[in-house]
Amino acid sequence: MSLTKKKISSDEINFEKNILCIGAGYVGGPTMAMIAHKCPKYKMTVVDINPDRIHAWNSENLPIYEPGLDGIVTDARGRNLFFSTDIEKGIKESDIIFVSVNTPTKTFGEGAGMASDLQYWEKTARQILDCAESSKIIVEKSTLPVRTARAMERILTSNGNHIHFDVISNPEFLAEGTAIRDLENPDRVLVGSRETETGRRARGEIVEIYRNWVQEEKIITSNIWSSELSKLVANAFLAQRISSINSISALCEKTEADISEVSKAVGLDRRIGDKFLNSSIGFGGSCFKKDILNLVYLCRQYGLNEVANYWENVVKINEYQKQRFVLTILNAMFNTLAGKKICMLGFAFKADTGDTRESPAIFIAKKLLDEKAYVIITDPKALKNAGVDLEGQKGHLSLVEDPCEATAGCDAIAVMTEWDIYRNLDYEKIYDSMRKPAFIFDGRNILDHEKLYHIGFNVYPIGKSKLTHFTKNK
Ligand code: NAD
Ligand code: UGA
Repeated sequence: MSLTKKKISSDEINFEKNILCIGAGYVGGPTMAMIAHKCPKYKMTVVDINPDRIHAWNSENLPIYEPGLDGIVTDARGRNLFFSTDIEKGIKESDIIFVSVNTPTKTFGEGAGMASDLQYWEKTARQILDCAESSKIIVEKSTLPVRTARAMERILTSNGNHIHFDVISNPEFLAEGTAIRDLENPDRVLVGSRETETGRRARGEIVEIYRNWVQEEKIITSNIWSSELSKLVANAFLAQRISSINSISALCEKTEADISEVSKAVGLDRRIGDKFLNSSIGFGGSCFKKDILNLVYLCRQYGLNEVANYWENVVKINEYQKQRFVLTILNAMFNTLAGKKICMLGFAFKADTGDTRESPAIFIAKKLLDEKAYVIITDPKALKNAGVDLEGQKGHLSLVEDPCEATAGCDAIAVMTEWDIYRNLDYEKIYDSMRKPAFIFDGRNILDHEKLYHIGFNVYPIGKSKLTHFTKNK
């Protein structure tokens, strides 16, 4: 009988593995849904302390927007995928526990603003210890400082109850907006363990899960510290490329070089590659900044100040890029924004997600409000989060769903997110509806700048010459 055809009560089925995930967020939800989708023989339970989130996972309106997610969740939910707030029961019944709780930057005490806040993660370790009645494999799915597994092992062996725990590192490399594609066809899956007999056996069990759909050569194993560190380093390298190209975008604006042309010429070198070389208003998202700052903090703790300073500059350039963008707007619009209407096209930190965590748009919106501009925000998926991010801000702020309505009557448009829908709006109609002189600041270089210029806009891309009707600049 096919499990996919008929939904059967989970009690009637003998599942091959009982797998629990603690933390039903952007990683826990999609990752476990993918395993459930690919492996009907495993029972997957995802638990969270947040009942609203669990309720949403069990409803038609999932708590996160991710292309393709709805399909795989509805396919597996109630069959071999379950969302629950009963963490204790989940721990008792599982053989393998993925821990995917949030590990944000610490905001208090020693290491504030740099180190990882490990309180959620530690609570989970203690709860596992309190509730477990049999041996388990604990999998670090959250991104953690290197050598965290040792702390987890120490907590898990602290009450001498002879239950055996193996701690495995299996960092997640998915990107938001492409999570389902990334999970289905990952560049690699990394599984790290202690190099002991039980450690290697536990590692083998985790590898076996991924073997159900990931090619053998893409599943790599390593020692546990390499695995923990590789995740921080992968994010640092990706962010470093963005800061590198963004730093050069500032030079392009001074020299009439064009960042897209430079990017193409540099990226065609196969040793460099063409990915992650799109100049922008800066990287956002919940992880790049936090993971680099965590790396910086770790290096300082080990006395490696030069290494720490090197990586810290990746974050500094990112801050510089956001500030530079606001100054470009201010300078172009005659050094005053008071009472001017500026429409922000997009608010999510990237396209195809409703996530706004660390979105450059938050910083930019606040700066524009400080300048007493009227800020109008539009975004197909992130308006609710934008409202929360800007709650309590003084000034004139509106959230408008329809981009044409949002831009009507404005003095300027600032592109924040590279949503496809913004590429082909009717810019002639939009121009007609705006106050003149009308400005466009393309923070993502996604628009046809020549065309906009000919429509009548004064156009300010990133890392390219501006196209204005004020001076002869061509
Ligand atoms: P998130 O904030 O969306 O989800 C974390 C969830 O954990 C929340 O729902 C929270 O309520 C829950 N939680 C916290 N403490 C708990 C506890 N004691 N018991 C049960 N549930 C608890 O975070 P996220 O974006 O899914 O990230 C999780 C981890 O994965 C982080 O370490 C992050 O760095 C890493 N990561 C994130 C991404 C991404 O794209 N977001 C990608 C790769 C890795
Ligand atoms: C990133 C990594 O790509 C994932 O591999 C990693 O698992 C994840 O962080 C994590 O640990 O959380 P994510 O932040 O979801 O994924 O999205 P990215 O596609 O990496 O984009 C991050 C930011 O960089 C976005 O603001 C994006 O607009 C910006 N970006 C990206 C650029 O400005 N230019 C580029 O060329 C690429």
